[in-house]
Amino acid sequence: MAARARLTDAEEAFIARQRVARLATADAHGHPHVVPVCFAWDGRRFVTPLDEKPKRVGDHALRRVRNIEERHEATLVIDYYDDDWSRLGYLLAQGRADILPPSAADHGRLLALLRDRYPQYQAMALEARPLLTVTPTRITSWGPALNATDEEPANTWQSSGRGNNFLPLARGRRSVRSFQDRPVPRAALETMIESAHWAPSPHGRQPWRFVVLTRAEPKEALAAAMGADWQQVLEMDGQERATIQRRLEKSHERIRTAPALILVCLYLADLDAYPDPERQHAEEIMAIQSLGAAVQNMLLAAYAQGLDTGWMCAPLFTPETVRVALGLDATLKPHALIPVGYEDRPPKRRPHRPIDDLIVRFE
Ligand SMILES: Cc1cc2nc3c(=O)[nH]c(=O)nc-3n(C[C@H](O)[C@H](O)[C@H](O)COP(=O)(O)O)c2cc1C
Repeated sequence: MAARARLTDAEEAFIARQRVARLATADAHGHPHVVPVCFAWDGRRFVTPLDEKPKRVGDHALRRVRNIEERHEATLVIDYYDDDWSRLGYLLAQGRADILPPSAADHGRLLALLRDRYPQYQAMALEARPLLTVTPTRITSWGPALNATDEEPANTWQSSGRGNNFLPLARGRRSVRSFQDRPVPRAALETMIESAHWAPSPHGRQPWRFVVLTRAEPKEALAAAMGADWQQVLEMDGQERATIQRRLEKSHERIRTAPALILVCLYLADLDAYPDPERQHAEEIMAIQSLGAAVQNMLLAAYAQGLDTGWMCAPLFTPETVRVALGLDATLKPHALIPVGYEDRPPKRRPHRPIDDLIVRFE
């Protein structure tokens, strides 16, 4: 174990592979405080954002900020754990902590480093937020994981060389049904569509088209038209008047208040045509399967950018009304409506079955 103020190449490579650091600070009386943080390294300093979450409190009310204002000392631990203990490793950086105001000359450059490492930060308005930096004066590191050349692949994500972010994204996404009143950047919506466009499709024909709604009028028109259709169906089902009213209002509100909506349409015109109905049916099912893949790409792309989404199947039940309300071509079959925005409260999550229940055979 050696202590230095500079990182070796192997240490730089090690920290570049890790996603989280623990930041320890202490108050004037020496009471310790530790939080996990996302971080970047610029060759001289560690940087971590004070992100948008603490709305109710000012920055100085954050324990780590107060502590740093009282004494500019901090320690970062960046560690790697594996059940195979021959792969463990950590780096400890003790040093000086500072709060860097948005007006600082290098604020933009450091924020760009963070956004490179964590795409979620691209959708957050961090330009006006301070950053927290730790300039190490004493670096200590330990473990086989520090030896970049000898390090065994830690898991299949890392060994593939294709990033190790996927599972947390897939796990973290949830269907969100109410959003903050905050617009979605156009670039984020375009990234969602681009991700859809990379989805697998039958013969590579991409049998889906998207309608993106961000303005109030078309959202309102769509909500009103679908609501009228749904009211008829609910009355036909013999539901109570008050129940119908409540359900209609809820659905209307959901469409009207979504900061953005993406209507996903099936587009079959480019698919193969068969003389027999069985193959034609299979061709259409393939297109619908592909639509699901395109939607999932979009949901994950939104989530990766710090956004949240839902999935409304209502257009599938009233495609003609949706088409007319939005003036769409008859070749487009509305299938799903994806509300996009920033969640206003964490949604309840339905329990997911154990993975073993889903695998019928694995041999
Ligand atoms: C094809 C399809 C249609 C769906 N339709 C609706 C819907 O109309 N309204 C809704 O609130 N959620 C809808 N969902 C979302 C599911 O309810 C949700 O994915 C499920 O409860 C699991 O929750 P999670 O997405 O948070 O993991 C739909 C999902 C799929 C795949």
